[in-house]
Amino acid sequence: MTLRSVVLGVGGYLPERVLTNAELAGMVDTTDEWIVQRTGIRQRHVAATGEVTSDLALAAAKAALADAGLEAADIDLIVLATATPDNTFPSTAVAVQAGLGITHGAAFDVQAVCSGFVFALATADAMLTSGRFRRALVIGAETFSRILDWTDRTTCVLFGDGAGAVVLERQEQPGTRDDRGVLTSHLRSDGRHKMKLYVDGGPSSTQTVGHLRMEGREVFRHAVGMITDVVVDAFKATGYGPDDIDWFVPHQANRRIIDASAVKLGIAAEKVVTTVDRHANTSAASIPLALSVAAAEGRLKPGNLVLLEAMGGGFTWGSVLLRW
Ligand code: ACO
Repeated sequence: MTLRSVVLGVGGYLPERVLTNAELAGMVDTTDEWIVQRTGIRQRHVAATGEVTSDLALAAAKAALADAGLEAADIDLIVLATATPDNTFPSTAVAVQAGLGITHGAAFDVQAVCSGFVFALATADAMLTSGRFRRALVIGAETFSRILDWTDRTTCVLFGDGAGAVVLERQEQPGTRDDRGVLTSHLRSDGRHKMKLYVDGGPSSTQTVGHLRMEGREVFRHAVGMITDVVVDAFKATGYGPDDIDWFVPHQANRRIIDASAVKLGIAAEKVVTTVDRHANTSAASIPLALSVAAAEGRLKPGNLVLLEAMGGGFTWGSVLLRW
């Protein structure tokens, strides 16, 4: 027998306010046509004044717990991925923990920008399957609207706010690739690229929060290769291939990156879950939000083989293959 981290529930939360491309065209020199053609994005959600990352995360966590049929007290580990925490410290995870009324176990944040959810899932999986914790909330939550330069058309059109969460439970499984739960995860980073996508502020450097800066073309150039490499690692580790995948749930940065990755990997278009048109790039929240949409639409079913991947600032990138 082998210990596996099995997904019991998923939930998402999007702020009420929707900002369309047409509205953005009234703020910066852009058009709906340019944004749709280059990115596939049609709209994004933006947090209300006073609504912070932990508010979004808490709503997603409650939705995931309800989906799992569990109480907050059943959770003993919270791993929250964000690059836009409420405060420099304490972690946003402890704000969620307090919001849920949990006083046992551990809660902490993980920072890998857009790869954050994949890094958080792999971290929680390691902590559950080591036997130290029993049930985890793994959350991706972001308010990128707070770190965008709203006068820079090359970045402000790309991102949105939101949160998604999954509940994982440690379970004994037979120990084959047919098991439910996380089957393999592969994480990578290469700090040589740290200035290609970064925020130009921080507590130790400028004592300000700063704004997101990106060499979009450079990010694009590296993205497909990095994504496909780490997915091939997951295939090699499990013996599964593109035809075995039921759902490919990539980080939702750009429709062109998603489509090019699926084509290069040989994954059929109808297996790709895409939400970038509605949510834009919600960084660490994009994968769990996409999972929550696929589950709510009845597409994602127990036993499905699900492939997750992400690439983001750092660069960081990673993949997780799991059976729902
Ligand atoms: N509206 C209109 N024109 C624009 C806009 C805009 N919003 N933004 C840029 N342009 C202009 C540029 O100024 C440029 O004009 P020029 O030719 O006169 O200089 C022209 O459009 C082309 O610009 P490029 O940057 O070459 O456009 P490109 O086709 O590369 O698309 C984009 C830009 C969409 C940013 C693309 O490079 C991309 O998607 N990169 C990856 C970005 C990404 O996904 N980042 C997130 C991944 S990691 C993470 O998730 C944090």
